[in-house]
Amino acid sequence: MFSRSGNAGLKWALLVGAVALAVVVWSELRSGVSDPGLVSRALGPANVSYLFKAQVNGSKGPAAQCVVCHALDRREAQRVAPGLWGIVDAPKARAGWFAYSSALRAKGGTWTEAELDRFLADPRAYAPGTSMIISSIPDDKARRELIAYLKTLRD
Ligand code: HEC
Repeated sequence: MFSRSGNAGLKWALLVGAVALAVVVWSELRSGVSDPGLVSRALGPANVSYLFKAQVNGSKGPAAQCVVCHALDRREAQRVAPGLWGIVDAPKARAGWFAYSSALRAKGGTWTEAELDRFLADPRAYAPGTSMIISSIPDDKARRELIAYLKTLRD
């Protein structure tokens, strides 16, 4: 059982959580999401862990923050975004089931390491209108490590 003060603490925690959630939804909507379904999918029960991204980071290797939206295994599980298995040197926007933004579809070509590097440094600058609205990796070294890791995701 909660003590009196413990109960008050719980209420505060819930209130702070609700406000944090509202701020995330509000800021994502404001930033002009080209795929409005993304927000609700990203905040669905399976992806509530997104809110704990900071905690997850550092505990699961270079792609820790990607797995909220992308599957990394070969099954191409349908999460909120296309799977990343074999992504290095794969054609861009390759997943038939996924509704890519027209910005990304218009890019053409393959995900060479150089292209991935540009995209991941700043997705919105690389493909203005992309629905991958978070997860830029501004740090060069972190991007190198991440791309080296992505290269291992193949048979
Ligand atoms: C909040 C969800 C989310 C997170 C987190 C996220 N992505 Fe994405 N990602 C997307 C969405 C949505 C798209 C499709 C973008 C579009 O259509 O414009 C995408 C597209 C991609 C693509 C292109 C895939 C293809 O089939 O052409 C790559 C590569 C990619 N993401 C890598 C990453 C990496 C690496 C991370 C981790 C650093 C990451 N993403 C984190 C949502 C996310």
